[in-house]
Amino acid sequence: MSTHRPESRKVTTEGLRRMKKRGERIACLTAYDALMAGILDASGIDVLLVGDSAGTVVQGLDTTIQVTLDQMLYHCSMVTRAVKRALVVCDLPFMTFQVSAEEALRCAGRLFKEAGAEAVKLEGGKPFCGVVQRLTESGIPVMGHLGLTPQSIHHFGTYRVRGEDENEAQQILDDAKRLEDAGAFAIVLEKIPSDLARQVAESVEIPIIGIGAGVDVDGQILVTHDMLGLFTRFHPRFVRRYAEIAKEMGSAFEAYASDVRAGKFPSADESYD
Ligand code: KIV
Repeated sequence: MSTHRPESRKVTTEGLRRMKKRGERIACLTAYDALMAGILDASGIDVLLVGDSAGTVVQGLDTTIQVTLDQMLYHCSMVTRAVKRALVVCDLPFMTFQVSAEEALRCAGRLFKEAGAEAVKLEGGKPFCGVVQRLTESGIPVMGHLGLTPQSIHHFGTYRVRGEDENEAQQILDDAKRLEDAGAFAIVLEKIPSDLARQVAESVEIPIIGIGAGVDVDGQILVTHDMLGLFTRFHPRFVRRYAEIAKEMGSAFEAYASDVRAGKFPSADESYD
C-alpha cells in the first residue's frame, strides 16, 4: 500500500476500484449537512457517506431504525449541495429496501433525483443480492455493508464483534463474494476481526472499507462526529479521536454565557455608534 496525495478530479466508483488496484487507501467519513460536507470535501476525503448514523449523532435516537427516507433526502441534499470532489453515498434507511427490489429502486431513485446522491449503501448479504443487482442494472451503484449491521440490532440483540466464530466468518466471506457478483462497487465491513477483514479484501476485486476491521483493507470510514470528539455518548474502541470538539464547544459556550452575565459582551468595538 502506498500513501498518496488525493487527486483533485471527481471521485467515481470506477476511480475507487482503480485506487484498490494501485494499492492507494481510500479515506471515507460521514456527512449530514452542507457546512461539514464542504469542510470534509475541501480536506480531500474521498467518499462522504450520508449515513443513517444521522439518527444517533444528529437526531438523538438510540438506534438508526427510526430514520426515514424523507430525513435521508434532507441530509443528502444538503451534503451534495456542498461537495465538488468526493463521491457521495447515501444510506438506504431501514425498510426502504427489505420489502422488494421495486420498492428499493423507487427509494434509491428518489435519493438520486431529489437529493443528488451518486451511490447508495444497504446493509446485509445474500437476502439482498437481488436488490443490489436490480439497482446496479438501473444505473444506481450500490455499496454493501457486512459484519455489524446496526439496522438489525433487534435481531442480534448486541453490538458485539461479528465473524468471530467459523460459521459467521464464512458467511461474511461468502456474502462479500455474492455482493461483488451482484454488482456492488464496494463493501463496508464493520466490527469484525482484522484477519477476517484482510481475507475478505484479498478475495474480492472491489474496495473493502473498514470500520473496526483493522488496517489490512482498502480504506477506512468513521462517523465524523465520533472522530471529532463531537459525539461523546459512547466511545467504541475502533474510534480514534482526532479532536475534542465537544470540549472546545463547551468552553466557548461557558465563556460566552459568563461574558453576557458579566456585561462584558458586546464590547464597544462589537457595537454600533
Ligand atoms: O450510518 C453510518 O454512518 C454507517 C457507517 C458507520 C459505516 O453505516
